[in-house]
Amino acid sequence: MACYFFIIFVLSSLAFGETDWPYELFQTGNWQPPHLSLSEIGETDPGYIFIGVRKSNKAGTAPTIFDNNGDMVWQGPQGENLDFKMQKLFGKDVITYWDAQPDLRVLGYGATHILDSTYKEIYTVTLHDDFHTPSGKNFDSYIDGHEHYITPQNTMLVSALNFTQTNTSHLRRGTPDMWVLNSLFYEIDIKTNKVLFKWDALEHIPLSKSSVTVLGGKKLHEAWDAYHINSVTPTKYGYLVNFRHVRSVFYINKDGSVRWQLSGDNDDYGDFMRDNDYYGDFKSDNVSFAWQHDVRVHNETEESLVLSLYNNAAMDHEDPGPSTGLIIHVDLINKKAWIIQELADPTDHIVSATQGSFQFLPSPGTAHMLLGYGSIPKLKEYDGDGNVVLRGQFGKNTLSANAYRIFKFPWNATPHWDPALFVNRTTSHTTDLYMSWNGATDHDNWAIFSVPSQTSTLLEGKRLLMHERTGFETRISIENSDARFIIAVARHGEKILGKSFVAELGQEINYVCPFID
Ligand SMILES: *[C@@H]1O[C@H](CO)[C@@H](O)[C@H](O)[C@H]1NC(C)=O
Ligand SMILES: *[C@@H]1O[C@H](CO)[C@@H](O)[C@H](O)[C@H]1NC(C)=O
Ligand SMILES: *[C@@H]1O[C@H](CO)[C@@H](O)[C@H](O)[C@H]1NC(C)=O
Ligand SMILES: *[C@@H]1O[C@H](CO)[C@@H](O)[C@H](O)[C@H]1NC(C)=O
Ligand SMILES: *[C@@H]1O[C@H](CO)[C@@H](O)[C@H](O)[C@H]1NC(C)=O
Repeated sequence: MACYFFIIFVLSSLAFGETDWPYELFQTGNWQPPHLSLSEIGETDPGYIFIGVRKSNKAGTAPTIFDNNGDMVWQGPQGENLDFKMQKLFGKDVITYWDAQPDLRVLGYGATHILDSTYKEIYTVTLHDDFHTPSGKNFDSYIDGHEHYITPQNTMLVSALNFTQTNTSHLRRGTPDMWVLNSLFYEIDIKTNKVLFKWDALEHIPLSKSSVTVLGGKKLHEAWDAYHINSVTPTKYGYLVNFRHVRSVFYINKDGSVRWQLSGDNDDYGDFMRDNDYYGDFKSDNVSFAWQHDVRVHNETEESLVLSLYNNAAMDHEDPGPSTGLIIHVDLINKKAWIIQELADPTDHIVSATQGSFQFLPSPGTAHMLLGYGSIPKLKEYDGDGNVVLRGQFGKNTLSANAYRIFKFPWNATPHWDPALFVNRTTSHTTDLYMSWNGATDHDNWAIFSVPSQTSTLLEGKRLLMHERTGFETRISIENSDARFIIAVARHGEKILGKSFVAELGQEINYVCPFID
């Protein structure tokens, strides 16, 4: 068995990173998630908290699931990841996340991984097209980190970026051959990776609509990020696409044309050149948002729809903010829009310059909402009236951890690997057992069985003791036992959900690792 063995010297299960924010340590595996500090102020919805942890310590940077106590439930593959969430595919709950090979200027070129409720990768969504990359290198797949949305038709909407040269002479500071970072999105068939739809911002939205001043663009690595796509949602007649750097959302028809635009920019346009409004722009005197993320469509009819979004209201840390959640009513008949609700925590003025998410929690009957504060490593759950019911934090600041989006979902998973067991004979008559089962949601106790030999099965076993599950890792001490071989069994009540390999108690230290492929 390929099993790595390691020794960790710790006094407690919490350690501190260089950035002064604690992370967890375990005996049963090399997971080091940032400590998730949660404080409940009111009744919260059930569910697990999904954080695609970024920029934490190396062994803590990974898609990670936590429970409502802040205990880790699953840590996925370590490394840069974005947009970790649960989605429905062919009627079943799956988890999805993006990872990438790095390149200059962009987050990287990547693929989207789809895992079932045993954590087996059932699909890997990839994208191939003739992308122009900063390094000139070729990549296995070209999906961008911002969007990986499974539609009700079981296809996936993904964002992509391309470096291209274009004539911007008609703009102030424009040149005939300026480098522009173009925003694209694709609809991909998940089973075959076939591209079903492709859309390109440069082809449809005049560069003059950008809210970002034309800077540089003489060299590829200075390319003007004029649009900055970050969310795409399927709609009745096509797609709703968010462009952070246009301070606007665009409704795109299935034929690729723009149906309408809602701008969050209702002050003067300052230095930026703009065309006359050329298609169905909505009056938004009542609505102001900036550098926004995660725009979603709800209750779409012929007459109206509702948008939810994370309003960063900030591009850098000098901006005033605060960053809030917005729910906007869009009146499609009169082409007007107004804010229905704004989510803000009056006790905590947050300014997140990048990233962020807004989620309507799926629990029926509560209307709770969750905001992930992007570059600021915090989350907050709000009730339907906009009161904060939960505050969470998993890093001291942007540098110690952050997450592109944060979600809460009901999740039931039984991993396809076995529970992990670590055995340490601490004195001649005491042995400490540590058990964990990365990713398992359903066990509520551990039972220890003694078996006659290394090759015995559980059927030959005799139950020595049991202990309720305590967080991610449970410790049991065995005193004065003459048992030699044991199996640790993860159970829900009396029901057996998983069992470890046989461990030998006589050994000083015995680590029985789970099977992971
Ligand atoms: C990317 O831009 C290059 C020009 O720099 C162009 O040749 C290529 O077709 C573009 N790729 C896509 C996918 O639009
Ligand atoms: C670039 O655009 C300008 C202004 O629209 C135009 O006068 C010029 O001919 C264009 N240059 C090229 C190389 O197409
Ligand atoms: C959608 O409509 C239902 C039924 O009227 C309502 O309860 C719900 O709050 C609406 N959702 C949003 C996001 O407005
Ligand atoms: C502003 O909001 C009010 C409702 O609060 C609405 O009646 C009005 O039409 C809105 N104006 C615009 C320009 O959207
Ligand atoms: C085993 O237990 C002893 C005594 O408590 C402790 O000093 C030692 O660090 C433990 N070993 C490991 C690998 O945890």
